[in-house]
Amino acid sequence: MSLFQRVAPLKATYDFMRSMGADPLRVEWDDVLSPTQAVKNGRVVTLAGTHNYLGLTFDPQVVGAAIDSLQKHGAGTTGSRIANGTYPEHAAFERELADFFGMPHAMVFSTGFLANLGVLATVAGPDDVLLIDADSHASIYDACGLSKAQIVRFRHNSAEDLDKRLERLKGHTGNKIIVIEGIYSMLGDRGAMREIVAVKEKHGAYLIVDQAHCFGVLGENGLGLVEEVGMLDKADIIIGTFSKSLGCVGGFAVSNLPDFDAMRIVCRPYMFTASLPPSVMAGARAALNAIRTRPDLRAKLWRNAVFLYDNLAQAGFKLGPEKTPIIAVELPSRELAIDTWRGLFDAGFYVNLALAPATPGGISLLRISVSAAHQPEQLQGLAEALTRVATSNGALATRLAAE
Ligand SMILES: Cc1ncc(COP(=O)(O)O)c(C=O)c1O
Repeated sequence: MSLFQRVAPLKATYDFMRSMGADPLRVEWDDVLSPTQAVKNGRVVTLAGTHNYLGLTFDPQVVGAAIDSLQKHGAGTTGSRIANGTYPEHAAFERELADFFGMPHAMVFSTGFLANLGVLATVAGPDDVLLIDADSHASIYDACGLSKAQIVRFRHNSAEDLDKRLERLKGHTGNKIIVIEGIYSMLGDRGAMREIVAVKEKHGAYLIVDQAHCFGVLGENGLGLVEEVGMLDKADIIIGTFSKSLGCVGGFAVSNLPDFDAMRIVCRPYMFTASLPPSVMAGARAALNAIRTRPDLRAKLWRNAVFLYDNLAQAGFKLGPEKTPIIAVELPSRELAIDTWRGLFDAGFYVNLALAPATPGGISLLRISVSAAHQPEQLQGLAEALTRVATSNGALATRLAAE
């Protein structure tokens, strides 16, 4: 049997997209000009699917700090921190991040994906249970594969279902560890943190919150959902990424747990992979400083998100349940989603196409991520182009007829 026989159904979906003239998984830019613009086949395309929430990828302070550090400390670390040591930039970022959260521990990983793999697989041992939301990101699912723990999946954002499942675990002596997200990446809805914390406390469980999409985005100071709902101290471990609001690459975990530092000597995805280049850490430090000191960026992001959401709702699109910077547009079928993605790309707008099995309930989505760097004309143009394409291919009429 071919080594790739197992993935034949996924390959068939991909081939189907390509037969419709869309290749959303292999877009190659001629050039990338700014947080919101790239060039494809000589034409400028507006980027609206890149999770560049605060537009910091080209920020002069972020880029300048990275260049200085690149010249001072070189291109890479050529190994992990346990083998090659900690550069001043790693230590400074961890101190500053811990201070920002008001927690004693912060730890940097080479990506957010590795942060989830490392943290979940380390804290959940063979006698423990990991309880994860059904809409969890792939890195959380893969962490379950790496962990030796029992895995229990609960209905998306349902504290009631979680409670029921924890009831069934009464008498189980190991740790119960609940994992949720701050903003869910497919539909853009917030995690039901308040309700889930009540269940966590009732059952004496632990709680890990992945804030990949809400750090720098939610909360008065940008500390994420945990801050927005006033429950900073209720999450035992908070996970984050540098690849969204921080505009760089990397991952992190912060925690109040007194013995959290043990992670540094047992967590394999931290110990056995190269640490981030100092230039990336310096850029991330400057981006963290921007989150702390430039609340105007967050305000602009929210103005843009609400503007686009309202525009698309008014045009008649079925959208995700909450107004956040991830705007999920549900299309009536896989074919219409692919065709709409292609039409929108041809019109000069890049968004994400998300299909089953990656989507909740197997629905077909165009996923838009809004940035503080978007100009109102770009968002207006996107709303108009999407309406035009979905009208001409019948996606909008099909959806309205289904109401
Ligand atoms: C919820 C969530 N967690 C973790 C990650 C992984 O982050 P990174 O890009 O840093 O690997 C992502 C990335 O999209 C995500 O959406």
